[in-house]
Amino acid sequence: MRYMPEPFKIKMVEPIRMTTREEREGFIRDAYYNAFALSADNVYIDLQTDSGTGAMSDAQWSSMMRGDESYSGGRSYYRLLEAGKEIFGYDYIQPVHQGRAAEKVLFPLLVTPGQYVISNMFFDTTRAHVGLAGGRAIDCVCPEGLDSGAYYDFKGNMDVPRLEALIAEHGAENVAAIVMTITNNSVGGQPVSMANMRETARVAREHGIVVVIDAARYAENAYFIKEREPEFADATPLEITREMFSYGDVFTMSAKKDALVNMGGLLAVREDAELTEAIKTRVISFEGYLTYGGLSGRDLEALTTGLYEGLDHDYLRYRVGQMQYLADRLTAYGIPFQNPVGGHAVFVDAGKMLPHIPYDQFPGQALVVELYLEAGIRTCDIGSYLMDRDPETGAQLRAPFEFTRLAVPRRVYTQAHLDVVADALAAVQERAASVKGYQITWEPKVLRHFTSHLKPVD
Ligand code: F0G
Repeated sequence: MRYMPEPFKIKMVEPIRMTTREEREGFIRDAYYNAFALSADNVYIDLQTDSGTGAMSDAQWSSMMRGDESYSGGRSYYRLLEAGKEIFGYDYIQPVHQGRAAEKVLFPLLVTPGQYVISNMFFDTTRAHVGLAGGRAIDCVCPEGLDSGAYYDFKGNMDVPRLEALIAEHGAENVAAIVMTITNNSVGGQPVSMANMRETARVAREHGIVVVIDAARYAENAYFIKEREPEFADATPLEITREMFSYGDVFTMSAKKDALVNMGGLLAVREDAELTEAIKTRVISFEGYLTYGGLSGRDLEALTTGLYEGLDHDYLRYRVGQMQYLADRLTAYGIPFQNPVGGHAVFVDAGKMLPHIPYDQFPGQALVVELYLEAGIRTCDIGSYLMDRDPETGAQLRAPFEFTRLAVPRRVYTQAHLDVVADALAAVQERAASVKGYQITWEPKVLRHFTSHLKPVD
């Protein structure tokens, strides 16, 4: 068990406050047991998401001073363009304000209502935008990805034989796109191998289907390929990234993850002039003029610098090493999680840890509440609570797993913070049998997990 030393030193700090258990009992009750409703001031260690929560470097902060705030044709845009072309090799690079903005612009251009879109696993917003465009989203992750206890190097992979079967069943003309999410967030930040990207692209090209890369965690995926796919042992993360993106036709990116910015995104096209023109029209309506895309010039500068920093090998070794350290500590305590650990988060298997709580009493959410009570740690449910209801019957849907996600912000927390997290989980595990499930007392119609009210089941 080794903690990979940070390849940086700390120049600026932000105080965080530890509260008492009694205070936290009040805060979470007042939040209706929904961690999204907590004031962040009352959170000690915030593992709710790794999105937009990272620390920027001194190079990023100083590059912001060079931001060109011209409405059109700003210098900062051209710098971003150069970087995007060098790193990803795509002809057209469009900044947008975040990942879902890219999805909103793109999917209605690809999907004709009634068509299918198949992914190794959709992130919620991507699934939502496929649906809003009239498409039907199908998850097609490899079977290993659904077995949290079993080790497999690339649990994020597309199930290619099933993909081929789905195309045969529905007809290639009814499949609007294939979405490759790297890393595969929803199954635990699990990587996709280069071999799998090649295979998926081969099938897509055979049938003339567009491949969209959902690229939020592209750099962590590149690092896993370097570590686990012998062919790439000597390649740099940048070289690996170039090849990964060669298997896509379009990519959407939330830059709030691996590109190390607090806000930003990209939408890029490898070589399709017609699609590019259509994208431009929609970007101007939804995001702003093409050369700023919903961001200020200084944001574009931080993003360009972040795209390179996120690919630094020493940084990635530390980043993934941090996750491995936390996972090793959980293994020592016998706490079940999606194994091996992913790139941005540890997905604790709350279904296994709290087996007495049925799926419709939300074991993942119960563990969210317990970790907050135990040590002021905020996490999120990736299980049945996250699922909306069946739109037709109103029935509670059952997720394939009941996870509690411990997403680690980039360059923010130290080894001692991770120790607090591991020890808190061990304390909850000790009293697991007494942990109660939850029921919803109020919920909105869609994306309920953000705003629902809950209460413990007696
Ligand atoms: N795609 C993936 C794989 C994501 O993980 C996210 C966001 C998005 C797209 C949407 O990007 O937030 O910039 O609009 N994931 C965050 C998370 C919110 O917590 O996992 P966005």
